Amino acid sequence: MSRFFDTALRPIITAAAASDRIRETSQRLTVTKRVVGRFVPGETEDDVLAAIRGSLDHGLAVTIDHLGEDTTDDTQAAATVEAYLSLLESMSRLPTTTPNALEVSVKLTALGQMLPRHGRKIAEENVHTICSAAQTAGALVTIDAEDHSTVDERLDIVRTVRRDHPDLGTVLQAYLRRTEDDCREFAESGARIRLCKGAYAEPPTVAFTDRVHVDEAYLRCLRILMKGKGYPMVASHDPTMIGAAHEVAAEVGRAPGTWEHQMLYGIRTDEQLRLATTGYRVRVYIPYGGEWYGYFVRRLAEKPANLTFFLRALAEPAR
Ligand code: FDA
Repeated sequence: MSRFFDTALRPIITAAAASDRIRETSQRLTVTKRVVGRFVPGETEDDVLAAIRGSLDHGLAVTIDHLGEDTTDDTQAAATVEAYLSLLESMSRLPTTTPNALEVSVKLTALGQMLPRHGRKIAEENVHTICSAAQTAGALVTIDAEDHSTVDERLDIVRTVRRDHPDLGTVLQAYLRRTEDDCREFAESGARIRLCKGAYAEPPTVAFTDRVHVDEAYLRCLRILMKGKGYPMVASHDPTMIGAAHEVAAEVGRAPGTWEHQMLYGIRTDEQLRLATTGYRVRVYIPYGGEWYGYFVRRLAEKPANLTFFLRALAEPAR
């Protein structure tokens, strides 16, 4: 099943993320919304604040993603910035004494990177605005990784904004062939780097497409980040990557609090709590908002069990 899923089903599911027709149809289905609830706690700021409180109460740090991507409308990009500013203000009022427990995650294509004129400039200014608000709120900011065509510009924006906001972090995707070099650069510059495997459909010219090669690349990148001067954020649910993080951290003498685990809301929640109660720093990535379709489809494409969960719900009588 796993090989069939990897080679035949995953590319089809991932391609559906880009289809407007499939998006419009599935967003109308009540059952989709019901299943989405496993991965997305809700569409409103109040929904996500309740999820944040729940995570903090269990000793988990949080990073919040206001869902949306590939914006080609400047009003929409401005609305996304407003949503983050409002969220950060609300987050600043949350009762937490744990340092750096609060973070927001942002996608540059939601902040205007794809706008026809001055897209890069607008996205960069919007990142600056969000970083300044986050600083006031006592929260961190990390920029998500999207498809490979956006990486050069994203890393350039990160380098620029880090001059004013050195805490700004970003994601590096182990499946991209370039990522080992990017890890070296950002580890040397002391950056906060979230290392994930990568969730977009990428061609073999730029990415490892075989699971074994992706895992090997992840382990090489993990080692580079752990040995470096930055703050590694180990974003994986995979027991092999989690175990390797513990081993390499011990081997290079990294103290607790100088790196962390990260997992997605609704995935391996028991493991998140187990790691946190064992003394590891764990951050849960919580998405919210109405634009959940692309995020949801990427979760279905990651694991046969996630797809089965969705198909089983489709077969159940409507509730
Ligand atoms: P993977 O899916 O490879 O699974 C490996 C093994 O882990 C499984 O065989 C199983 O043992 C275990 N496992 C995984 N899921 C499980 C489940 N639901 N229940 C039980 N066991 C399970 N991607 C991207 O392209 N850009 C980005 O910006 C981000 N951001 C991001 C942030 C955070 C915090 C996380 C955790 C992930 C991302 N990702 C991402 C997604 C990432 O690239 C990747 O697609 C998923 O994390 C899946 O890969 P894993 O390493 O988690 O395990």
